[in-house]
Amino acid sequence: NKNISIAIDGPAAAGKSTVAKIIAQKLSYLYIDTGAMYRALTWKALQKGIDPEDGEQLFQLLKETSIELKQGKNHQKVFVDGQDVTEEIRLPEVTNSVSTVSKHASIREEMVRRQQQFAVNGGVVMDGRDIGTNVLPKAEVKIFLRAGVKERAKRRYLENVKKGIPADYDQLVEEILKRDELDSNREVAPLKKAEDAIEIDTTDLSIDQVVDQMMKYIKERK
Ligand code: C5P
Repeated sequence: NKNISIAIDGPAAAGKSTVAKIIAQKLSYLYIDTGAMYRALTWKALQKGIDPEDGEQLFQLLKETSIELKQGKNHQKVFVDGQDVTEEIRLPEVTNSVSTVSKHASIREEMVRRQQQFAVNGGVVMDGRDIGTNVLPKAEVKIFLRAGVKERAKRRYLENVKKGIPADYDQLVEEILKRDELDSNREVAPLKKAEDAIEIDTTDLSIDQVVDQMMKYIKERK
């Protein structure tokens, strides 16, 4: 049993973070939500009135920004320059700009550098869009999660309702499709299944079923 790296990628709202957290807990591994890092930068840029298209200014901003992911018992918190922004980074303004912020090569390079530092000792579960292809190309386990867009929008809808966030199902479908399109078609490290990743379609599976399948696969590779 060694401390391996587990890369989980897939489109928006496919359930990556839900299962990644459970698996990290089961294995006592570190969970790294790379989407939260891009969201954190996007949040700060919007605060400062920086245009999400302006890669140069965003890069300057990122260099002087500390982004911390802190693991709590039941959930993890995200801090920007010491401020808790866990809830703010899920707001629609951030969600609607994050794919634009994330397309810039300089931003990705710096984010990937930070993400790789988290993983130097192994024992991580990392989720995102380019983990298996770029951030951890040597990860022992690579999983690509898919789900139909209707199911993804439904899950996000129920999640929002539960959290007391206003939710509109049709709008969620649109937002998810738009983000997938931007993330899949950008020039730098687009959303793509790594060649050596296994694919799981979670559309008709429960969380437990997905976790069980993944744990079986992980145990074979540990
Ligand atoms: O995972 P989440 O949906 O929170 O990610 C938010 C956005 O951050 C994605 O839509 C994508 O634009 C960007 N992202 C990325 N690469 C990653 C993780 C997230 O470009 N590894």
